[in-house]
Amino acid sequence: MALIMLPFLLLFPLLYFIYKHKKSSNSTSNSNSPQLPPGPTPWPILGNIHHIKTMSHVTLYNLAKSYGPLMSLKLGTKRVIIASSSSFALQILKVNDRILSARDVPSAVPLTRSEIDQLSFWSDPWIDQWKNIRTKCRVELFSSKGLDSQARMWEEKVTEMVEYLRGKEGMVVDVEELVFVTIFNVFSNAYFSRDFLKLEEEFGGNEVRVFLRGIIEALLAFNVSEFIPVLGKFDFQGLRKKHKEMSIKMHSLWEPAVKERREKMESGNYSKQDFLDTLLEDGFNDVQINKLFEELFTAGIDTTTSTINRTIIELMNNPDSMNKLQHELDTEFNQELLSNCNLLQLSTNYYLQACVKETLRLHPPAPLLLPHRARETCQVMNYTIPQNAHVLVNVWAIGRDPSMWDEPLEYRPERFIDSSLDFKGNDFEFLPFSAGRRICPGLPMAAKIVPLVIGSLIRFFNWTRPPHGNDADVHEVLRATSNMIHPFQLIPTARK
Ligand code: HEM
Repeated sequence: MALIMLPFLLLFPLLYFIYKHKKSSNSTSNSNSPQLPPGPTPWPILGNIHHIKTMSHVTLYNLAKSYGPLMSLKLGTKRVIIASSSSFALQILKVNDRILSARDVPSAVPLTRSEIDQLSFWSDPWIDQWKNIRTKCRVELFSSKGLDSQARMWEEKVTEMVEYLRGKEGMVVDVEELVFVTIFNVFSNAYFSRDFLKLEEEFGGNEVRVFLRGIIEALLAFNVSEFIPVLGKFDFQGLRKKHKEMSIKMHSLWEPAVKERREKMESGNYSKQDFLDTLLEDGFNDVQINKLFEELFTAGIDTTTSTINRTIIELMNNPDSMNKLQHELDTEFNQELLSNCNLLQLSTNYYLQACVKETLRLHPPAPLLLPHRARETCQVMNYTIPQNAHVLVNVWAIGRDPSMWDEPLEYRPERFIDSSLDFKGNDFEFLPFSAGRRICPGLPMAAKIVPLVIGSLIRFFNWTRPPHGNDADVHEVLRATSNMIHPFQLIPTARK
């Protein structure tokens, strides 16, 4: 019986797609509105899925060479619009930001629509809870006052990292893991006033990193269900399941700390010390707390560590830049960098800051941003972006655009010296943190912690590659948070 039914079961979705495809082609060709941006001719049903294989920034950059800086693809039933120039980025993230700053939530997110609106950064900018969590993060964590109150703790974590490395002189160190543990503890102290990982136990960050990367990979995988909605319920690739399992494991990391703090609070024996206290005082329940921390860790750790690691690699590949930076650190900061870390100094026009900017230009950790969605149909220059289109901005391609940058593939931090170009969302040729309503809320923290860690690693150590090790390289790995080849191993020698 089951065998007899099989052809009908297969035929039904096929007929449904042909019907949907015909309907949507008719609706675009009959309209009088300006045309869609150019793109390769879609096949029936599949659209352009066969043109892209993976939705990577590199593939989209290559396609844009043929179809232009505002391009349109049809992936299954979904319309995807990709901007690859600074002028179209400005149109999307500034001129039409109100309409285009909605989110296209990946179907791997294991939440219903109403859960997203109550719990998550994935919700839309007009939703109260989205405004509420962004405001809370801005005021408590990322304001000048919030950052100043964390400065001493940052110094402590970075000092621990340097001390650990002094004990490893001449030995091979997994720098990626070391930086991961340090950054994870910086964030966990800002949120919970405690370390979750240990440097000494051969780092102990591996398992947590697997959970975190698991969530990111599930979110960024090319998920067929997103483009052929009738398949959505089935989670064929197991991405929703993977996200859910990894999230539960992440939550178990801090759940005992939350329980303990609640009990302390109820007994009256407590004084406010960190972000967890703020959330508890504001009546956040455990589900809200878990989701918020999961999203803050997921968004903040990989991006920050990859920027630090890539800067170290670029500096090793460009010895002139390395020498210049070491000279600046020796003269400007001397031995004082760690004991009396002047964070205000770090954010000014120093070569260190220029190195970070140059890394972010060439290797933005989120090269396509996160997917935006058109809340309603709008016009961008002479083109139409239809309602519910999935909108991407290829900031990786924009950072390498030869009409904007001299010798764009060269690592030349000097281009940022005596230049007002910044990553705060006003310069549309340089958008590693995006711009507009969706601009990264963690920008003020990343802008300080990244140079602090790099400055310490470079001020206090010379670095060499192990003789038979993995050649530290910055080839673009084809995934959306373009992290690096693992393991990233180097040998430190202390500098006097
Ligand atoms: C070098 C470090 C970082 C880079 C380059 C970066 C970049 C980005 C980008 C490009 C987006 C997407 C914006 C869009 O879709 O238009 C984003 C979103 C986000 N980032 Fe960051 N980020 C970094 C660090 C952090 C840190 C340290 C945190 C928090 C501690 C953080 C929290 C977030 C959150 C919560 C979102 C989602 C915001 C929303 O959708 O409303 N990020 N980030």
